[in-house]
Amino acid sequence: MSTQTRIRRTTVPQIAARKGGEPIVSLTSYHAHTAAIVDKHADFILVGDSLGMVMHGMDSTVGVPLDLMIMHGRAVVRGTQRALIVVDMPFGSYEESPNMAFRNAAKVMKETGCGAIKIEGGARMADTIRFLTERGIPVMAHTGLTPQSSHVMGGFKTQGRDEDTWPAHEADAQAVADAGAFAVVLEGMVEPLAARITKQIPIPTIGIGASVECDGQILVLEDMLGLNPWTPKFVKVYGRLGPMIEEAVEAYAKDVRTRAFPTEDEVYR
Ligand code: KIV
Repeated sequence: MSTQTRIRRTTVPQIAARKGGEPIVSLTSYHAHTAAIVDKHADFILVGDSLGMVMHGMDSTVGVPLDLMIMHGRAVVRGTQRALIVVDMPFGSYEESPNMAFRNAAKVMKETGCGAIKIEGGARMADTIRFLTERGIPVMAHTGLTPQSSHVMGGFKTQGRDEDTWPAHEADAQAVADAGAFAVVLEGMVEPLAARITKQIPIPTIGIGASVECDGQILVLEDMLGLNPWTPKFVKVYGRLGPMIEEAVEAYAKDVRTRAFPTEDEVYR
């Protein structure tokens, strides 16, 4: 008989049940190796469409294709054992109709093995969220600053600075919760609004630039590791990997150029 204990992945109901409880820890990840590290500490890992900008040098997330999300989603599922894996649906893959959203979300779930998908949009996506959840696809919603709509929003702007806009943001969060989303990302939102929404709705709010008042937090891994030359103001940088990598590459280049390369005996001890 095997003595190995099977590690169980965090489930969607377990995340939903954390409303108002121990804060939910989450990070993005796009590869098997970083995901394996994050997996030890995160409740869920998001394969975010931010990978278009972070990994592939795009100017925005608008150009990210579905197949790219599937490729990175598969790698992250392979590299992990315990966290719930959520894969972002990219721009153009779900907005047209609930049927289209179902077809593409089912493809993502089948081909990556992820546990849930995420879509951007509030009240306008409520019918789609209901359609998906009634057919077995767990949905994380995303309201506030929604980067896929940055062209309409006029850039990446913090939401809720004007109190007159609060009712619309609150209605968005309520609509996605009523439609069956199990959690909602609140991105780029002023603290009092994020706090009001977190109190009002029955599902966990996951903040990114939306204050400590949320039920959990998410950051882009490369931002908090100091790998990107520029990071948003709200990001606490926990590592300095960019300069560390540069130092290592510089030392390697120097070794090669000065023929100071180690012998096989030194390397393969
Ligand atoms: O794509 C992404 O990384 C995201 C997070 C910023 C929430 O949607």
